[in-house]
Amino acid sequence: MRSVYIETYGCQMNVADSELVASILRQAGYRIIPTPEEAEVILLNTCAVREHAEERVIGRASQLSGLRAHTPKLTLGILGCMAQHLAETLPQRAPFVDLVMGPDSYRRLPQLLAETAEETLLDLRLDREEDYQGIDPIRRQGVNAWVTIMRGCDRFCTFCIVPFVRGRERSVPAGEILRQVRVLTAEGYREVTLLGQTVNSYRDGQVDFAGLLRAVGQVDGLKRLRFTSPHPADFTPQLIDALAEIPQVCPGLHLPLQSGSDAQLERMRRGYTAAQYRALVAELRQRLPGLALTTDIIAGFCGESEEDFQQTLDLVGEIRFDSAFMFKYSPREGTFAHKKLEDDVPEATKTQRLERVIALQEGISWEINQQLVGQTVEVLVEGPSKRQNGQTRTFYGRSPQGKTVVFSQEVVANALVQVHIERASSHTLFGELAEP
Ligand code: SAH
Ligand code: SF4
Ligand code: F3S
Repeated sequence: MRSVYIETYGCQMNVADSELVASILRQAGYRIIPTPEEAEVILLNTCAVREHAEERVIGRASQLSGLRAHTPKLTLGILGCMAQHLAETLPQRAPFVDLVMGPDSYRRLPQLLAETAEETLLDLRLDREEDYQGIDPIRRQGVNAWVTIMRGCDRFCTFCIVPFVRGRERSVPAGEILRQVRVLTAEGYREVTLLGQTVNSYRDGQVDFAGLLRAVGQVDGLKRLRFTSPHPADFTPQLIDALAEIPQVCPGLHLPLQSGSDAQLERMRRGYTAAQYRALVAELRQRLPGLALTTDIIAGFCGESEEDFQQTLDLVGEIRFDSAFMFKYSPREGTFAHKKLEDDVPEATKTQRLERVIALQEGISWEINQQLVGQTVEVLVEGPSKRQNGQTRTFYGRSPQGKTVVFSQEVVANALVQVHIERASSHTLFGELAEP
């Protein structure tokens, strides 16, 4: 049995894909191992969304290729979005790589691994049909399971590489999703997160996203239902009703904003204005009590003036997100912005704007979390926390809003407990189990 080590970069969809790859390889007789040192096959499942992510992976692949001294027959493969993006140039940039495979080719991975070749093997066909039906991903033992419900993206925001590396949007049939969720709850998972780049544009011909959520909410044993990322322009009244009515749907949404300036949103081709985003948030907050909102912001996209950026700060300050992922714009070859718009915000300005929005958001996150001190929240326990609090062992889980909650009493994973919050940072709540 050949052993395989898989390392994952990028978003949750990539994490889910690595679980899929593990399943495909295990069925083909491979053994999945948790560290690279003894592996005969090393696979890096990569992200292309920003340039920095790609540089990191090339460095890491080069470092791992050093293990050939110890395992001469080592096969080193690059999978995923960056493999697709850099395609033909990767063998020159990283000659120590044996295999380059895009996200629609994983069923052929055992076949390619069985071949030995002098040259790097490439498999980069994007397949509008591939949705990996019938494969049950090997999930990390845990509490929350990722379930990919759609692949690809058809939105083509001008800054974004995803539609180019993941291909056209396609939805997994609802019957297959329900089958997977039933298997998961039978295995003991209590929380499921449905995944897609624009998850709320899901449609399989019969069922839309609202209908899918209602069906998944009926599955026995499911306690918490999450999904990511919904696109602000794809909310329907039926979806908002479903969110409000399905008890398992968690009050936490990731709603990427990108910019608060209409001119920038237009240049990005996001499909909504600041006013529309604001109105959506108002409606969601009114219908979903206790809703936590998180977002993504890009600083320094093409054409962004100081005034445009100020509008982003104003909207971030007005909406008060619970937290945000914030990035400097990174031009991606092949996108509309790379071809047609000038990357005209100087690097120093991008950095400075990023720092400003981070500082603003960190303060807001901190203030929102302070309001939870003294309250008791329901926590789905995930396990021992990695970061140790001095000498005492700590455990962690998540609140319905998706916030990380750390406490010191030992509780088995998957339990639902009440935690009394005693203090909070911008990113974490700390407390002790409430007396039952
Ligand atoms: N499908 C999601 C976003 C997926 S990419 C959505 O549309 O909501 C995750 C985040 O990466 C994006 O929301 C955006 O903020 C950021 N991002 C994407 N392309 C980028 C680029 N070229 N430069 C900087 N950030 C980028
Ligand atoms: Fe990229 Fe836009 Fe698709 Fe999100 S919706 S993955 S930002 S193209
Ligand atoms: Fe995800 Fe990065 Fe690909 S964000 S879809 S892994 S480009």
